[in-house]
Amino acid sequence: MRLVSRRVATIQGSLRAPSHKSLTHRAYMFAALASGPCRVSNPLRGEDCESTLRCMNQLGLRHDWIGDTQIVLEPIARWKEPDGPLDCGNSGTTMRLLSGLVASRPMTATMIGDASLSKRPMRRVAEPLRRMGAEVEGDYPPLFIKGSNSLKGIVHKSPVASGQIKSCVLLAGLRASGETVVQEPSLSRDHTERMLQAMGAPVSTKIDLGTGAAEVTISAAENLKPFELTVPADISSAAFFMVAAALLPEARLTLEELSLNPSRTGILDVFERCGIEVHHGNVRDELGEPVADLEMRAPKFLKPFDIDGGLVTRLIDEIPVLAVLATQCEGETRIRNARELRVKESDRIELMADGLRRMGAQVETQEDGMTIVGPTPLTGTHVKAEGDHRIAMSFAIAGLIADGETVIDGAETIATSFPGFEEELERLSIV
Ligand code: S3P
Repeated sequence: MRLVSRRVATIQGSLRAPSHKSLTHRAYMFAALASGPCRVSNPLRGEDCESTLRCMNQLGLRHDWIGDTQIVLEPIARWKEPDGPLDCGNSGTTMRLLSGLVASRPMTATMIGDASLSKRPMRRVAEPLRRMGAEVEGDYPPLFIKGSNSLKGIVHKSPVASGQIKSCVLLAGLRASGETVVQEPSLSRDHTERMLQAMGAPVSTKIDLGTGAAEVTISAAENLKPFELTVPADISSAAFFMVAAALLPEARLTLEELSLNPSRTGILDVFERCGIEVHHGNVRDELGEPVADLEMRAPKFLKPFDIDGGLVTRLIDEIPVLAVLATQCEGETRIRNARELRVKESDRIELMADGLRRMGAQVETQEDGMTIVGPTPLTGTHVKAEGDHRIAMSFAIAGLIADGETVIDGAETIATSFPGFEEELERLSIV
């Protein structure tokens, strides 16, 4: 599918961004572990989370929709061996987190995914699960797992800070003997820990204040407390509109019900460095996760920024759209230590650099990042998203400030995380 984006005068209004993808995945999976029914309001109805729900159904989860926006999930009393492959679609989170649940139960399962997911590395979860005692094959999908009731806890030193690797190992650790410890170079998103803790699981985190390294420990627990969750909006989806508001003159944007978990708010740190003011209001808490409304206005001048070290994991999914922002900052922006971008839904470093250069930006790539020198005017042209939702939306935002038309090929996966993206863009745009 092709998406065409054109210049607009500005954007103004209020946005309730799509619901939180990471929290919706986790709510569908963790409800299966509760001692009673869980109720989730406003889950994300994007294709990635629907893949998780279908896979959980195959494993025995039953659910009822109440209208379109509320779902009641029954815990799984007896886990079923799936009667066919678990199809994770485009979703790495589904495959990696599910592998921890499956590996810690006496069942065999095969996990498959679409063309993009089939190229993504799985050894990073297979290896720790094997050390815990499961049989796992497949450095890339399909992933074959023969799980076991008698896993043993391990200390897993993850070379990359990854919410998916950490969550996979912690979920397996919930049914392993002894303690399971995950160490990472900096704290990756901690939704799993917060939710499991709110459900009463014995999980704790230590952060080394000097290096920022994180260590999360869990031990076995069952019959966790049921939860009620109203899923807030996802900052990674809001980010496209936040950058649009930073780029367009006279822009005014209110972001409602936004999840502001500190492990996810790196974009706000970048905005501060750029000189973009953001005001918080109505701060509250939802199942251990901070939530607030934000207000922002277009700044007069954009300063360049550096992204490296622990900041990378706090904005990993926002880097493509922040690269668009960098093209309009006065000076050199450096993005480093972001090698993980090469193994996301696409090689996000090469695809962003290629498209932005075609549009007239000055971009150099490194193995682990990009250097962007701005400001440069952008001109619409053909760019490739290769089925990567965040790349497609990033170029759509670049198109708002470009001359002529920006034609984005391979934009069909936008609905995996942001159903209704084009409609929202049209609604908020002033032409
Ligand atoms: C996710 C973790 C991130 C992120 C992905 C969702 C999660 O990946 O890119 O979109 O829900 O745990 P990492 O495993 O690289 O942290």
